[in-house]
Amino acid sequence: MSDSASPPPYTVSNTGSLVPGSSKSLNRVFFGRIIHSKSLKEVEIFPKASLGVDDKGNIQFLDANVDSAAEACAKHPGFANAEKVTLKPLQFLFPGLIDTHMHAPQYPNMALGMEGDLKEWCENWTDPMEASYADTSKAHRVYREMVQKELENGSTTVAYNSSIHPDATNVLADTCLEFGQRTVIGKLCILVGSTHGNWEKNAEQSIEDERKVVKHIRKIDPEGKLVMPCIQPRAGSYVPPELMAGLGDLCRDSEPIRVQAHMCETPLEVENMHKLHDGFESYADMYNHYGLFGPRTILAHCIHLTERDIEVMAERKVGVAHNANSNTCLTDGWCRVRQLLDKGIKVGLGTDCSAGYSISILNAMRQASNVSRHLTIHTGDPAWKLDFEELVYLATMGGAEVCSLDHTVGNFEVGKAFDALLVDVGLDDNINTNGFEHDDMALLKKWVFMGDDRSIRKVFVGGRLVAGKDLKA
Ligand code: GUN
Ligand code: FE
Repeated sequence: MSDSASPPPYTVSNTGSLVPGSSKSLNRVFFGRIIHSKSLKEVEIFPKASLGVDDKGNIQFLDANVDSAAEACAKHPGFANAEKVTLKPLQFLFPGLIDTHMHAPQYPNMALGMEGDLKEWCENWTDPMEASYADTSKAHRVYREMVQKELENGSTTVAYNSSIHPDATNVLADTCLEFGQRTVIGKLCILVGSTHGNWEKNAEQSIEDERKVVKHIRKIDPEGKLVMPCIQPRAGSYVPPELMAGLGDLCRDSEPIRVQAHMCETPLEVENMHKLHDGFESYADMYNHYGLFGPRTILAHCIHLTERDIEVMAERKVGVAHNANSNTCLTDGWCRVRQLLDKGIKVGLGTDCSAGYSISILNAMRQASNVSRHLTIHTGDPAWKLDFEELVYLATMGGAEVCSLDHTVGNFEVGKAFDALLVDVGLDDNINTNGFEHDDMALLKKWVFMGDDRSIRKVFVGGRLVAGKDLKA
């Protein structure tokens, strides 16, 4: 495994935060409906199966040939004294959702600023909000609330963008580790193209501050079990050549490390990139030239791509964060997910708050479905539509691939970390299951299209219970 799966020794306090050192882990066996993604084309549903999680939080077995948790405990060595959890008839286990692109400092701005396009939204809302994290106490306040809400909404893994401030970014990393969220985090690098003082002094300082954050994250979580650093040039239009080159060098010096950046969001943004980085055939060529393109690169948006962009992206095996909600809110355009998948490019879903107004990956699945249908309406070609099975894949395994965590999370393969949601669609909330109580696929579809945090009863990361409506039950 590239990234070790076991969590730090935390236990959940009665305030919902994790207390270091005081937990005594138990093996655990779940029995009931278990659902996960096998491939882009296949959702695997076990109406009755058992899943064993060892005391390190890793999946030891997924066994459909037993009739109870007790039978599974007796059958599997080491699980005789395991804690048994038998799911109710309208409950199921589902892999933790993966948000491949989210802006932590923009969290207070959600649902605001949609009247503008990307440029106006940045200038009027995003730049002043992000600049305000020079006050590190704000990071403490906002990030505690945000990480808890993210977990409650089922996002067990998130790739976060931060602000230009190393101290605030370190607070984000500390907070994610404390609450037990699996995360990729970097300090945002900006020199030009921004307003409200939301830029850094010079390339040296930007690189030095990014280095500081990488060092901090590698100190608090040396093996990257939960929190992993990344290099974060905001976009080509914000980072001039000398800084882009320095970040490429830092990337090489810090191997293996992830990269997270925006690419090809609007025609104007692409034009501004070309003005700043003269002479490149495409946006992808620019990132690739500076050593920022590879299998650990996460690229947000990728809407206005050229054939050349797609060629370089496929060759370098980068991943795409598809942010359907944000792309619609800012009227950026439609990401052609089908085209990317056909080229073998990794795609996951992102919420991109606050350009998007929802932190829920369930919402991102619905929006990705709708955007794909709009492409069909626009072109008359049904091939653009994403199948339900594909939406499930993008929200879990696809996200894991984009974050280079597919050997660790994304589904319930034996050996992976138990990042999972215990979902209940039988709560008389807003999900009407009448007449479909025994149709497993219908229950899943109803949850994906109608569910929210109320149906997410328990959230596990690396085997630890970290959130959910039944956290304290
Ligand atoms: N492009 C550069 N920065 C941003 C951002 O914060 N959000 C979005 N949606 N696009 C960006
Ligand atoms: Fe973004």
